[in-house]
This record gives sequence, C-alpha cells and structure tokens, in this order.
Amino acid sequence: MPNRAVIQSIGMAVADRVMTNDEFEAIIDTTDEWIQTRTGIKERRIAEPGQSSSYFGIRAAKEALERAGKSPEEVEMVVCATVTGDYLFPGTACLIQDAIGAKNAGAYDLGAACAGFIYAAEAAAGMICNGTVQNAVVVGIDTLTHFVDWKDRSTCVLFGDGGGAVFMERQKDTERGIVATVMLADGSGARHIKIALGGSLNPPHSARGEAACGYIYMAGKEVFRFAVRAMADSCSRVLEKAGLTSDDVALFCPHQANLRIITAAADHLGLSMDRVFVNVHKYGNMGAGSIPVALYEAEQQGKLKRGDLVMTVGFGAGLVWGANLIRW
Ligand code: COA
Repeated sequence: MPNRAVIQSIGMAVADRVMTNDEFEAIIDTTDEWIQTRTGIKERRIAEPGQSSSYFGIRAAKEALERAGKSPEEVEMVVCATVTGDYLFPGTACLIQDAIGAKNAGAYDLGAACAGFIYAAEAAAGMICNGTVQNAVVVGIDTLTHFVDWKDRSTCVLFGDGGGAVFMERQKDTERGIVATVMLADGSGARHIKIALGGSLNPPHSARGEAACGYIYMAGKEVFRFAVRAMADSCSRVLEKAGLTSDDVALFCPHQANLRIITAAADHLGLSMDRVFVNVHKYGNMGAGSIPVALYEAEQQGKLKRGDLVMTVGFGAGLVWGANLIRW
C-alpha cells in the first residue's frame, strides 16, 4: 500500500469579538433580515488592530500539535495558506514556525485565497508522500476584516477573522489520509475579487499606489455565479478521480462564504443538508480559514469521525477553486 498523508489532529482560533448583523444597521444601510436572507450570516468574528493572521495561526497550530501529542521539534514543514499575511514578506508561515518552536522545520506561505487550505493540504501531502518530509503543520488563516471598507455594504457584512491548522504525517497501511485532490484556476477572472494596493503593480508610496484601492473589491454577482459552478465542478471531478460517488461521502465540508452557494452545490451533488456542514451563520467568510474551522467544529460535534470520507471544496480570488477528498 502506498504512503498516505494522514491528518492526525486539528486546531482552530478565531477572533473573540462577535459582531452581529444588528450592529451593521447603525453604520450602513442594511438590515439583519437582508444579510441573513442573502448570505445566511448572523454574526462574524472581528480581529482587533494588531491581531494579525499569524496571531491566530500560532494558536491554531499549537492546539493541533498538542492534540497530536507532538513536540514542535518534530515538525518538518509549516505551510500557511493565507492572502492576508502579516507582511508582504517575511512569510507568515515563518512567524508561526518560530512562535511554535518548530526549529527543525521549513516554512512557506501559499496564496490561493479561499481555496488556500485545499491547495496547502495537497502541497503538504505531496511532500509527505514522496518522502521529502515526514510530517507538516498545515495552516489556513485569514484576517480579511482588516481590509474591508466599513462603508461598502456589499462587502463589509461578508467577512470574519480566524482559521485552523492540522498536523499531517506519513503513514503506511492505512485507508486514512488525502485520497484525491483537484486544483483549478482561471486568471481571466482576476479582476472580479481583489485588493489592488500593496503589491508590486501598485506599491505603497508610489504614484500608482496612491491611485489604487486598499480595500477588498468584489463583483458579488460574478463571484456568486462562478462559486456555484466551481463547487459543482471540483466536487464532480474529485469524485470521478477517486472512482467514488457522492453516496460515498459522509460529510461535505465546503468553504463558508454564503449559505445560498452551499445549498446550490449540495443540490447539484444530490447531497441532503444533513450531510453538509454549515457554520457560515457564526463566522461569515474567513478566507483560507473557513474550511479548517468547519472541519474542527464538525469533529467536535461528532459529525466527522475517524474513517469517514469528507469532501472539502473551496473557491476564491484568482479565480481559483479545488476540492479534497479526505479519509478522516
Ligand atoms: N444590505 C442591504 N442591501 C444590500 C447590501 C446589504 N448589506 N449589499 C448589497 N445590497 C443591495 C445592492 O446594493 C443591490 O441594490 P440595488 O438593486 O439597488 O443596486 C441589492 O442589494 C441587490 O444586490 P445584489 O448584488 O444583486 O445581491 P445578491 O443577492 O447578489 O447578494 C452578495 C450580494 C454579495 C451577498 C452575493 O452576490 C454573494 O454572496 N456573492 C458571492 C460572494 C462570495 O462568495 N465572495 C467570496 C468569494 S471567496
């Protein structure tokens, strides 16, 4: 039997501050009813100034290591999926690696927006299965509310801050682990969701930077249509790749951006909602953090047990999308 990259434990960390829909009624022209009907979100977590992505990533990674019973010195790689790293450089993975004491590990960031955890889990699994490393801590974390325009009602209600981390390691003679992955992209849709300021095209302290917007821009309708297609597309492909059907899936754990997108995808796959994990009402969209937090809570609630087949799927800025089938 070939090597498998098995998720041995999971941790999570979200911002403490809860912001309800009602609070938005005081700052923008909206209602709790509109937000719930259009998105499914009731509340989200908001990071304080100075609570960066590494702040939450460190907490999640420490919990994952503790629950795996591993010492930080044993960790060989830290991969951090984020598009809201503490800095352009150094990488947030390096900050996490240092803070958790993983002094024998490599560390790097991976930016695939809300599909980041899918891409990062596969990147780590590849290194683990081919023998480059024995194990990895894979973090999915974002603090998107630091980048929202609190006056833009079409985006500011959607996001929240936090994420999770898993400890993954090589095992033989097991059915557990990453079973199959698909990863796809369509850069022609890059303009639909972005932060224009701060990269090498529009650097801060430059004429171009002064003209660029530092807030999240999103063409909601285009992204919505893309998201529904992308969820269905990547789930169908990953099941076909593994020679399985949706009947084999114990739990569907999608990126939590919008309840309407999740239910449309579940419908397409013929999955009843009792096999779909949803926590978007509590957290909003946490970028690369949504999927690991959903996996964590599904496990805590007894909806995801060892040996179950779980299908994760994500989509986001790039545009990128993808899905993992994981034997938990
Ligand atoms: N409160 C009240 N009204 C709002 C509002 C808010 N918070 N946000 C937008 N509106 C208004 C719009 O201005 C628009 O008004 P108009 O018709 O007078 O112009 C109206 O509601 C309808 O807007 P529309 O964009 O058609 O709403 P929608 O049903 O498409 O829902 C989103 C908007 C953003 C919730 C939805 O498009 C969406 O979820 N898109 C995908 C987002 C996503 O997943 N992003 C993350 C990718 S990882």
